[in-house]
Amino acid sequence: KKNKNKKPEPSEHEKWEKYKIGSATMRFGSRDQQHPDQNEKQYELIVEDEIEFIAEDILKGKMELPEELKKLESTSSTANNEQEDIEKTRKSLPIYPHRERLMKMIADNQVLVIVGETGSGKTTQLTQYLYEDGYTKNNLKIACTQPRRVAAMSVAARVAQEMGVTLGDKVGYSIRFEDCTSPQTIIKYMTDGMMLREFLGEPDLSSYSVIIVDEAHERSLHTDILFGLVKDIAIARPDVKLLISSATIQAEKFSEYFDGAPIINIPGRRYPVDILYTKAPEADYLEASVITVLQVHFTQPQGDILVFLTGQEEIETACDMLRDRVKGFGQKAKELIVTPIYATLPTEMQAEIFKKTPPGARKVVLATNIAETSLTIDGIVYVIDCGFVKQNSYNPRSGMESLLVTPISRASADQRAGRAGRVSPGKCFRLYTSWSYKNELLSAPVPEIQRVNLGNVVLQLKTLGINDLIHFDFMDPPPVETLIAALEQLYALGALNDGGDLTVMGRKMAAFPLDPQMSKMLIASEGYGCSEEVASLCAMLNVNGSVFHRPKERAVHADNARKNFFRPGGDHLMLLAVYKECEENGFDKSWCMQSYVQVKSMKRARDVRNQLIKLMENEGVELKTNNDPALIRKAITAGYFFHAASLQKSGNYRTFHKPQTVYVHPSSSTYQTQARWVIYHELVFTNKEFMRQIIEIEPAWLIDIAPHLYRNTDIEKLTHKMPKNKGRATMA
Ligand code: CDP
Ligand code: MG
Repeated sequence: KKNKNKKPEPSEHEKWEKYKIGSATMRFGSRDQQHPDQNEKQYELIVEDEIEFIAEDILKGKMELPEELKKLESTSSTANNEQEDIEKTRKSLPIYPHRERLMKMIADNQVLVIVGETGSGKTTQLTQYLYEDGYTKNNLKIACTQPRRVAAMSVAARVAQEMGVTLGDKVGYSIRFEDCTSPQTIIKYMTDGMMLREFLGEPDLSSYSVIIVDEAHERSLHTDILFGLVKDIAIARPDVKLLISSATIQAEKFSEYFDGAPIINIPGRRYPVDILYTKAPEADYLEASVITVLQVHFTQPQGDILVFLTGQEEIETACDMLRDRVKGFGQKAKELIVTPIYATLPTEMQAEIFKKTPPGARKVVLATNIAETSLTIDGIVYVIDCGFVKQNSYNPRSGMESLLVTPISRASADQRAGRAGRVSPGKCFRLYTSWSYKNELLSAPVPEIQRVNLGNVVLQLKTLGINDLIHFDFMDPPPVETLIAALEQLYALGALNDGGDLTVMGRKMAAFPLDPQMSKMLIASEGYGCSEEVASLCAMLNVNGSVFHRPKERAVHADNARKNFFRPGGDHLMLLAVYKECEENGFDKSWCMQSYVQVKSMKRARDVRNQLIKLMENEGVELKTNNDPALIRKAITAGYFFHAASLQKSGNYRTFHKPQTVYVHPSSSTYQTQARWVIYHELVFTNKEFMRQIIEIEPAWLIDIAPHLYRNTDIEKLTHKMPKNKGRATMA
């Protein structure tokens, strides 16, 4: 230890000492690392023990605050009250000095592309400027779309606060299964998916004076569809204003698409960001990001940290790891406030990330891609970028849809790095090599429309009377195969007739904000006399994340509690059992705790169910109750017959439609049962193609429900391929 201190003061980059992590397989960055670019800065992860020594240096006061941060600390919050403070903040945003020019351009042009750095104030200020300039006269509304639900909620809350009004009154938001608006609402934030639904009720959107398509650069599926629809609206309604708002990428493309609409650039305040790469590829980016957080915490001057990871589970794990390790340092560590943010984080916890960090402490926000451009967190000086994102991917040939952890694009990497330079010069630690950045990352992300199943969107477009999908004005068209696969699926579900026109069933299905298969299951359940049960099931399947609570230290108890809910027949019946029991116990918190069930998820399921019941009443789907597991499983089959799989001799399964090998997820209640025929709710790819939420079915139901797909001879052939003794007889 003493030796270390005797060495000449190491340069900052030299402080990162060598550390080797795990030996798991690399996912990218595995190729040539021999010729690092001399201009690129690199860093290495430190040995954890050594952090302690460095920590002592800091305690001895060797690290100084940079000037910009000192200034920031002294200027903040000199205002007398909250409203004054808010006014000050609003005026300090980069968009503010451009207000007049911006509003004039809006007045002079019907369509305008607005480009500005993330955090410049586009999302929170534009709507207010429009409101203040009278665009909401005569009760007309301003719509602002967001690709992410959390962003819609959080931004609406912020704007309501800035305007000093109650959320849900003048300013509200609308996301799937949650409508926080009222007849007084004139500024409405909503997910792009909900905006698409607005067209169903009001094809010309006549109650809106302005439509802001925000976060356009994200190119989410629904945003891309919206582009085509609002472009039409603009022609039909010369009075409507259309604003396309985007981070600093792709502006030209938007302008071109909207017939040369002018572009206004809001120059952002952007401090330089020092980018550091790892010397060698990291095998375990989760561990690597945790270590890097600690390194920054112990060796870098004040400033909050933003870490980009890929999903909820990973983020929660990293949070636990960080809290644990910092605790281990005891007095030597300054306070580290660890906060997660991801799409399904309960609302009351989302506010945490926006809270000001108390002096002397440091905040670390562990986020999904949501913090890349949709949410701005003030005070971030350090960004740690794992280089991955969780993305949908769909293969129309196999019909396989999966969420995959995928390398990000260079554009994304740059956006992420930019988050470090908003308040002062910052640093971005990339957990990949500069070689990977240059040679392995795509330059821009692939638009979602080109990598997802389009069943839902095609059904909605058909409902809007858009029949010729091949010639729809897509900014980037989806693969024709994907469109055809969607049409085939809708036809098989009975939503389209053989002329490709919408059927009565199709129209009914479109009324539910669910995937076509789930809509079909719900509507069909009326015929099986169990629509009450299937509504509960839909609600449970729509509660994102797990309904079960599994704390690490009590994993065995949690698993046992979960096993109590197992029901013969499979996972859907288990979910239903959880819902029923929870309902019987009045969604009681202590019951949930004892049962290792998340009370928040359950309450959300209850809300979703209530919404579905209302829609069912509107659509004339009769509410009937019947607990017979066979009937419930038949109703599931009626929607999900595409997802049938049969047992193989190997003990694994093979899907029937577009055959491929799939596996039972170890968390499934059917993991040991070797059921012969099953239907799965979804396929997830981690290291294998896993079926998740599985029920056992009778093959006869498939022939009965979808005779166009399943024939007796095929079923018999497959039955011969099943293990002779292993598979137990199916139950019905
Ligand atoms: O849309 P854009 O990225 O241009 O910026 P914005 O989202 O309007 O953010 C402007 C400012 O509002 C930033 O300083 C954010 O930190 C702040 N904000 C906030 O404090 N709370 C929110 N829920 C959203 C934004
Ligand atoms: Mg924004």
